[in-house]
Amino acid sequence: MSKFWTDYPVIMNELADVKELIKKNIKSRERYLEESIYPMIDAGGKMLRPAFLLIAAKFGEYDSKKMHNLGAVIELLHIATLIHDDIIDDSKLRRGVETVQAKYGKEYAVYIGDFLFCQCFMMVSNYDYTTENLKDISKVISRICMGEISQYHLRYANSINLRKYIRIISGKTAALFALCFFIGAREANCDEDIQKLLGKIGYHIGMAFQIIDDLLDYNGDTRLLGKNALRDLKRGYYTLPLIFALEKDNENEISRFLDKDCIGDDDIEQIISLVRKYGGIERAAKVADRYNRKAMNMINKLPNCDSKEILMEIVPRLLKRNY
Ligand code: IPE
Ligand code: IPE
Ligand code: MG
Ligand code: MG
Repeated sequence: MSKFWTDYPVIMNELADVKELIKKNIKSRERYLEESIYPMIDAGGKMLRPAFLLIAAKFGEYDSKKMHNLGAVIELLHIATLIHDDIIDDSKLRRGVETVQAKYGKEYAVYIGDFLFCQCFMMVSNYDYTTENLKDISKVISRICMGEISQYHLRYANSINLRKYIRIISGKTAALFALCFFIGAREANCDEDIQKLLGKIGYHIGMAFQIIDDLLDYNGDTRLLGKNALRDLKRGYYTLPLIFALEKDNENEISRFLDKDCIGDDDIEQIISLVRKYGGIERAAKVADRYNRKAMNMINKLPNCDSKEILMEIVPRLLKRNY
C-alpha cells in the first residue's frame, strides 16, 4: 500500500483488511484471472476512497465488518474504472506496474474490468445492506461513464471551457468521492444532515483531487506518479491548465501547436512552456485550492472526533501531493 496512510496505523490496518477482502472476492478457479489483477492490487494505490468511507463511517455507529466490505466494494469499483480508463488512454503504466491492457491486450482488459464490476455488485448483493446502496453505486457508475463519455466527445476540441471541464470531472471523479463519504455515513446511521455534509465534503475533495491529478500530468514525475505523465495532451484531453492558458492566448500561439495533425514530443514541450507562460498551472492550482478550502470549512462544522482530525490533516496533504 502506498505510504499515504502510514501516520494512521488504525486506518492502515483496516485498509490491509479491505485489500484482503478484495483479493478473496476475485478468487476463482482460473488462476490466470488472479495473476492478471493481483499485481495492480499488490502495487497498491493510495486507497483514498475506501479510507474516506471508513473515516466517514466513524462519525456514526461503526461496524468494522460491514464497512470493510463496503470499502472493498468501492475500491474494486475504482480499480475496474482504472483498468478500463487505461484501455481508453492507452496507458502503459499504473501504480508503477504494467497496465492490464499493455500486458495482456485491450480485449482482455475489457473483460477483466467487466468481471470486477460484476464482483463488486455480487459483494453488495451478498451482504445485508439496504437496497439504497445498489441504487447509489449504479448511479455513480453511470455518472463516471457520463463524465468519461463527455470527455471523449471533447477530445481535441478548442471549444472546451471551464464549465464543461467542471461538469466532466464532477462526473468522472467527484461523484465517487462524494459517494464514499455519504455511504459510509449513511450505513453508520449518522444524522441526515451529517450524511449530506460529508457527501458535500467528498464532492469538493474529489474536485480538487482531479484538478491536481490533471496538474500532475503537466508537472509530475512519472517515477513518483507510478503512471506516465504528459499523457492528457497526447490523448487530446484539454484540462484546466490548458483551458486557462487558451483564454489568455490572444495570439493563438498554443492553438497553432494544437491544430497540428500530429503533435510530437517537441510540440508538447512548447505547449507546456506556453501554458506556464500564460499562468495556466497557477490558476488551475488556485481553483483546486478553492475547492479544498471549501471542504475544510465544511469539515470544521463536523462534530469533534478522531475522524475530523484525520480529515483536517489529510485534506491539505492531498493538495500538495506529488503522486
Ligand atoms: C486515479 O485515482 C484516477 C483519478 C481519479 C485521477 P487515484 O490517484 O486515487 O489512483 P490510485 O488508486 O491511487 O492508483
Ligand atoms: C480519471 O481520469 C479516470 C477515472 C475516473 C477512472 P484520468 O484519466 O486523469 O486518470 P489517470 O490520470 O489515468 O489516473
Ligand atoms: Mg487515464
Ligand atoms: Mg490523469
